[in-house]
Amino acid sequence: MASQRRLPPMNIGITGASGLIGRRLSDLALRRGHEVLAFSRTPERRIPGCTMRLFSQDAPPNLESCEALVHLAGESVLGLWTSAKKQRIAQSRILGTRRIAESIATMPHPPEVLVSGSAIGFYGEGGDSEILESTPGGSGFLAQTSRDWEAEALASKAGRIVLLRTGLVLAREGGALPLMARIFRLGLGGKLGSGSQWMSWIHLDDLCRLFLFCVENQSLSGPMNGTAPWPVRNVDFTKALATQVRRPAFFAMPAFALRWLGEFSHELLDSKRVLPSVACSHGFPFQFPELSPALAELL
Ligand SMILES: NC(=O)c1ccc[n+]([C@@H]2O[C@H](COP(=O)([O-])OP(=O)(O)OC[C@H]3O[C@@H](n4cnc5c(N)ncnc54)[C@H](OP(=O)(O)O)[C@@H]3O)[C@@H](O)[C@H]2O)c1
Repeated sequence: MASQRRLPPMNIGITGASGLIGRRLSDLALRRGHEVLAFSRTPERRIPGCTMRLFSQDAPPNLESCEALVHLAGESVLGLWTSAKKQRIAQSRILGTRRIAESIATMPHPPEVLVSGSAIGFYGEGGDSEILESTPGGSGFLAQTSRDWEAEALASKAGRIVLLRTGLVLAREGGALPLMARIFRLGLGGKLGSGSQWMSWIHLDDLCRLFLFCVENQSLSGPMNGTAPWPVRNVDFTKALATQVRRPAFFAMPAFALRWLGEFSHELLDSKRVLPSVACSHGFPFQFPELSPALAELL
């Protein structure tokens, strides 16, 4: 079991605090009594309850008084991967993390912990094998980007560094689920490709609690999978979603039809059976370990 530090409240910096994960995480941290310093490219757009600061790729951010930093900022991976988009996906993460490391290097009192976002894209195509944190990185654009992104975080002088490799985040207010639910409600849902590929997902609330678990537990460091303990095959995800919205899911999107999305199609067709072994071995209490109750809560 990890030694959990809940008190006293901490000053937690969050980059990407205006995003899907950042907003819910900020809210949860505030409710737990922490102070939140929200870093944004547009700090004039206020986030309720947070102190706003500038985050830019051009200069190291002001991390003064941050006792913990959760780093989430980065260009969205959703959408068509043109070469310009791929460059923004990689550079926003690599340069943003480098600026953080540069800022930390100048601080007499660096943050006690840096929890740096990463993604299960790190592992590449995994077939049916179970993927643990010790599984080596795979190949492909996202695997390479995640590796470079993690390397920048590991180069920082933060007291403790956790790399949270997040799976597909299921949320009501953003990400892939609302769009999938709309398609399924129209009766147009179906499996993707053969449907045999594993999907490693996590409920947004569990993920945000896991981010704070990493901040508050001093014995955690290194890579950690941010996924629910029960990944599912795409065909079973399809069945669970169709059941939840009470519509049939007759359609199947053939793999070749998804290829028009370019390399992003790998995100939909690659198989990743990721297990959160570090979170489980440290006693993290998942509220939504299984898919159907998670979908029932969200839809
Ligand atoms: N959602 C998922 O399913 C999922 C899965 C795996 C990993 N992740 C990772 O977790 C992190 C947060 O995810 P999220 O879903 O909350 O993302 P999000 O909603 O797209 O938010 C990311 C935030 O990053 C900032 N940002 C956007 N484009 C940027 C750019 N080009 N350069 C610098 N900053 C930029 C924005 O904040 P400002 O506009 O305020 O600066 C934005 O609010 C991301 O790094 C993502 O790769 C997410």
